[in-house]
Amino acid sequence: MQLRGNWNYPTAIHFGAGRIAELPEAVKFAGIKRPLLVTDPRLAAMPMVAGALDSLRVAAIPCAVFTEVRPNPVASNVEAGVRALREGGHDGVIAFGGGSALDVGKVIAFMAGQTRPMWDFEDVGDWWTRAEPSGIAPIVAVPTTAGTGSDVGRAGVITDESTHTKKVIFHPLMMPKITICDPQLTVGMPPVITAGTGMDALAHCLEAYCGPFYHPLADGIAVEGIRLVKESLARAVRDGQDIEARAHMMAAALMGATAFQKALGAIHALSHPVGALHDTHHGMTNAVFMPYVLVFNRPAIEEKIARLASYLGLSASFDAFLRFILDLREATGVPHTLQGLGVDAAQLDRVVAMAPQDPTAGGNPVPLDECSARAIFINALEGKL
Ligand SMILES: NC(=O)c1ccc[n+]([C@@H]2O[C@H](COP(=O)([O-])OP(=O)(O)OC[C@H]3O[C@@H](n4cnc5c(N)ncnc54)[C@H](O)[C@@H]3O)[C@@H](O)[C@H]2O)c1
Ligand SMILES: [Fe+2]
Repeated sequence: MQLRGNWNYPTAIHFGAGRIAELPEAVKFAGIKRPLLVTDPRLAAMPMVAGALDSLRVAAIPCAVFTEVRPNPVASNVEAGVRALREGGHDGVIAFGGGSALDVGKVIAFMAGQTRPMWDFEDVGDWWTRAEPSGIAPIVAVPTTAGTGSDVGRAGVITDESTHTKKVIFHPLMMPKITICDPQLTVGMPPVITAGTGMDALAHCLEAYCGPFYHPLADGIAVEGIRLVKESLARAVRDGQDIEARAHMMAAALMGATAFQKALGAIHALSHPVGALHDTHHGMTNAVFMPYVLVFNRPAIEEKIARLASYLGLSASFDAFLRFILDLREATGVPHTLQGLGVDAAQLDRVVAMAPQDPTAGGNPVPLDECSARAIFINALEGKL
């Protein structure tokens, strides 16, 4: 079977190895004449960015590069990018990279047309309706990790340094016009980033599936996404050149972000404050919390998880699924405790206060309060399941 296709769930997805060559057409398709390519400094020094710029040059599309993107990006990254976009007279953004560069690129394109400050557009109630939609610049996304699925999402996650909180900036028109998903771009990801980003995709599928709402479409996408992770993540970590495993992980990442419009849950609610306070990798932090949250949620999800386990070819029980998660973590080098991420109890009280307030907490199948957040955090510190 050829691992290639043109899909529209939920935007135009051009999927397949080598398809980065179609970047100039994608830019034209999005109606962009003078793109600003937003990426991070490490990727900017890699041949894939030079190759993309070459292909634009050949197609006579003038393009500048903006690289002020840090992991767990902050507001000043977006502000500097909006200045670069305006000063360079750019009419659209190529968001090129992992979740950090994709999110910054998307929010730059969104903020280009706004007069109100960015935090006015946090994903709270109908705040997005405050935005002036006509000024939002079009976006072409090019993911280089397989995890966040930000390239098929309508939001960007930016850290507010004044409160150390990760905030979601949301607008429906922040959805890229087209995303080029080329698994070839991910072959150079080091094993630790492959593992962390892949576990983020798994966390998206799993939390969406476990969410207590009615959304059979999301559920269907999530279970197949989990199966792809099961078949491919350990392979991609072991052998980065395994293009089939890379392709399946890239698909799983898209599927996770498509499914999580249903819900996320306590894995993300705990991981967001830990990431904002300790600057840990988002997906790796999710991976550490995953089994502790599963056990906490067990009373509400036991039957659902048994059904999932059966689909995955495991014995149809919660315990079989938990064992699979623990084995996958071990096979991909995920630490079993928070200490393994360099996180200690110093910020425990702040994390415990912030987690139930995180917008993802409301999608957890068992209500998450300060008391339960504390218990999960301590279990994750001590490795107690
Ligand atoms: N918008 C969303 O829906 C959404 C969802 C989940 C997570 N996020 C956010 O995404 C961010 C995390 O994104 P991420 O996990 O993709 O990591 P990242 O973008 O921070 O990248 C991690 C590192 O990997 C490097 N890298 C990326 N691609 C590479 C490649 N192909 N080869 C070699 N190195 C490569 C980067 O240069 C960087 O150093 C967090 O800020 C998180 O909050 C957003
Ligand atoms: Fe995530």
